[in-house]
Amino acid sequence: MAFNPFAERGIPIEKQWDPIKRIVQDPYDKERVDELSRLRVIDTYGMENEQWYFYHQLARHTDNDEIREAVALIRRTEDQHRSEASFLFDPTTTILELTIAYEHLAVAITAAAAKDEPDPYIRQVFDYGLLEDYDHLFRFSILLDRLERLDANSITRRLVEIKPGRPTWEEHLHPRDTLRNFFDARKADPLTRLHALSILAPEQQTRQYYASEGYWLKDQAARQLYAEIGQIEEQHVSQYESIIDPRSSWLEMAIDHEYNEIYTYHGFLQTERDPKMKGVWEDHLAEELEHLRIWNELYNKYEGKDGRQLWPEQLPKPIALEPAQQINDYVKQVLANQVNLRAAGKNFVPKDRLPADWPSGPYRQNIDAGNSPSTNYQPPQGPVGGVRL
Ligand SMILES: [Fe+2]
Ligand SMILES: [Fe+2]
Ligand SMILES: [Fe+2]
Ligand SMILES: [Fe+2]
Repeated sequence: MAFNPFAERGIPIEKQWDPIKRIVQDPYDKERVDELSRLRVIDTYGMENEQWYFYHQLARHTDNDEIREAVALIRRTEDQHRSEASFLFDPTTTILELTIAYEHLAVAITAAAAKDEPDPYIRQVFDYGLLEDYDHLFRFSILLDRLERLDANSITRRLVEIKPGRPTWEEHLHPRDTLRNFFDARKADPLTRLHALSILAPEQQTRQYYASEGYWLKDQAARQLYAEIGQIEEQHVSQYESIIDPRSSWLEMAIDHEYNEIYTYHGFLQTERDPKMKGVWEDHLAEELEHLRIWNELYNKYEGKDGRQLWPEQLPKPIALEPAQQINDYVKQVLANQVNLRAAGKNFVPKDRLPADWPSGPYRQNIDAGNSPSTNYQPPQGPVGGVRL
């Protein structure tokens, strides 16, 4: 059924704030939760955190009192949304167990978006990051087996194959090699713009997760692996934010953020099997609709334009995390064709054809990437847990 984000009615803003007991619902059970529901919770947490960061920045860059007030009202809901998502996590989950789910999400969402991405250059950018998160999943799976004697497949439920990608120690890039060309928001396919926003938020969340949790591990080699992969996630955040057109106004960016939330929750509702999660996504969706309406009204008032000039009235195709076979087939094909590509400036070239003055060469020597912690997480000799080689 057609769903028009500009016409559907939401919940009035003054009715959006929930009692604390409702924000903190019973967590899911990590043994029984549908793995795709778990990925949606992580995704939601990342997206709502991005809303929170974005609205605090917006508040610091406007002197318009009406906009300042709208930000304060909407941001309170976003803050509640992220709390609600985070309290759904099973508190018996270890840092490393959740790490596996984070990397599973990165692989699944990037592959799902890339396979439907209409812009070939942007698809190439997604493919590049995909093979790196794919490798992180593998290295962390070895760590999980060593430290907790746990098979990572018991977390991913075998929805994704766990195999080496672009080796993590070869992923390190000079900051200059992490920037990409940005699309033109007025000409780009709406799907391209939604894919970019939808991948950026969980990558940012992953980077923050490794920064805020990695130091709790007691094992020194594990701490170093978190520090190393955290650096690659920082590169991913830099890469993905650099493809988004930076020329939009603050109000346009606010509309983009809300439209993306609506797109995400509406997409979740197409496939969510867990009735409790379904209720959460429905509540959030109804609240995001009102956020979009408020921003569109202010966009009309202060810039004389309408959000429908920015976004279609029918939501584009959602990012589908299933069927898993399609995700795995896509990764397999990218792995076969692109594992030897390296980012050089804003382009991707085979590693045997890199320019002599490639900035990432000396950068890698300087950080000793050839000897970095991830090199200790090679494929094991004998069978280790259920890691598939
Ligand atoms: Fe939200
Ligand atoms: Fe990753
Ligand atoms: Fe990543
Ligand atoms: Fe929102």
